[in-house]
Amino acid sequence: MDVVNNSDTMDNNLDTVDETTSVQVKSFFETAPILKDANSITGKVTRFIDQNSSISGNEGPRRVVCVTSGGTTVPLEQRCVRYIDNFSSGHRGATSTEYFLKAGYSVIFLYRRGTCQPYCRSLPDDPLLECFKLTGDSRIEVRESHSEAVKSTLSGHHAAVSGGFLLKLPFTTIFEYLQILRLIATSMKNLGPNAMFYLAAAVSDFYVPWESMAVHKIQSASGPLDMRLAQVPKMLSVLRKEWAPTAFCVSFKLETDTDILLEKAGTALKRYKMHAVVANELSTRKEVVILVTNSGKVSVHRENDRSDVESPLIKQLVEKHSSYIKEINA
Ligand code: PMT
Repeated sequence: MDVVNNSDTMDNNLDTVDETTSVQVKSFFETAPILKDANSITGKVTRFIDQNSSISGNEGPRRVVCVTSGGTTVPLEQRCVRYIDNFSSGHRGATSTEYFLKAGYSVIFLYRRGTCQPYCRSLPDDPLLECFKLTGDSRIEVRESHSEAVKSTLSGHHAAVSGGFLLKLPFTTIFEYLQILRLIATSMKNLGPNAMFYLAAAVSDFYVPWESMAVHKIQSASGPLDMRLAQVPKMLSVLRKEWAPTAFCVSFKLETDTDILLEKAGTALKRYKMHAVVANELSTRKEVVILVTNSGKVSVHRENDRSDVESPLIKQLVEKHSSYIKEINA
């Protein structure tokens, strides 16, 4: 595979997106396939933001966080049969969503179809078959062994959705993900510092531009496949500088080599002007993460084998977000 690598394109200017990135971003969106249901998604997002921003508590207007979760796919054919995917299960995003809701945030959960959902973690993989049974008179009953899990799933989810505090929006491809993220971010701009972005999705770094993609299923009879992938423009600087410039932004850095993890997280913090970067290593990501901010690096551990690392992580981020709001409003 031939990868078009533009990683030497540094984002040096702190207030505006550099010209090369700007051109790449423009071209990405102009050539992307049209987002289906764009009007309906815009309507949902606008209503959700309007409703939630009008709610006020002791600490001012209700805060809204956009949590991204799961991995984007890269189609290889326009009438897609094959695609490039990644490992992300969506566990981080789903679990974090539960803790943000608990902390009093409203959440726009932008998730990969079929990945882990908030409040569903305690359910078995095949909940319909394992949690429920058909009685002799054709009624559906919850099996005693799963009744606690079903109850907590339903009550948690019901409280969040019926209260209007959780909006779930699915994506599959890199094209859908970035178009929906832009739509959410530009709508959240009006929330100022009360908005947060928590970008836990595993976003494809390389893709096949739509206009150079095969239309039909690639034929195996043609022999070995020689394919050129272009680099997906990093959207972090555009999000930070143009789409929602006063929002509190948290990005993630995933590496499999711990030796380079912290260095890369530090670079991302500075280069994209993030307010925090959560650094994690693939094999230990459920046990420990490192929170990197301008004030330093802090290891965040889960308390024990049955607790979630997201609990202390979200607590720390909420505190940092509160200080940020105070600072901006001072
Ligand atoms: O889902 P789980 O199985 O629970 O796993 C969680 C996780 C490991 C996926 C999560 O904790 C995590 O680290 N997510 C980010 C993974 C990733 O894409 O890392 P990266 O180093 O490639 O990208 C860093 C950041 O740049 C990300 O916040 C991403 O949103 C952003 N990005 C990436 C590529 C791109 N073209 N544009 C971007 O803006």
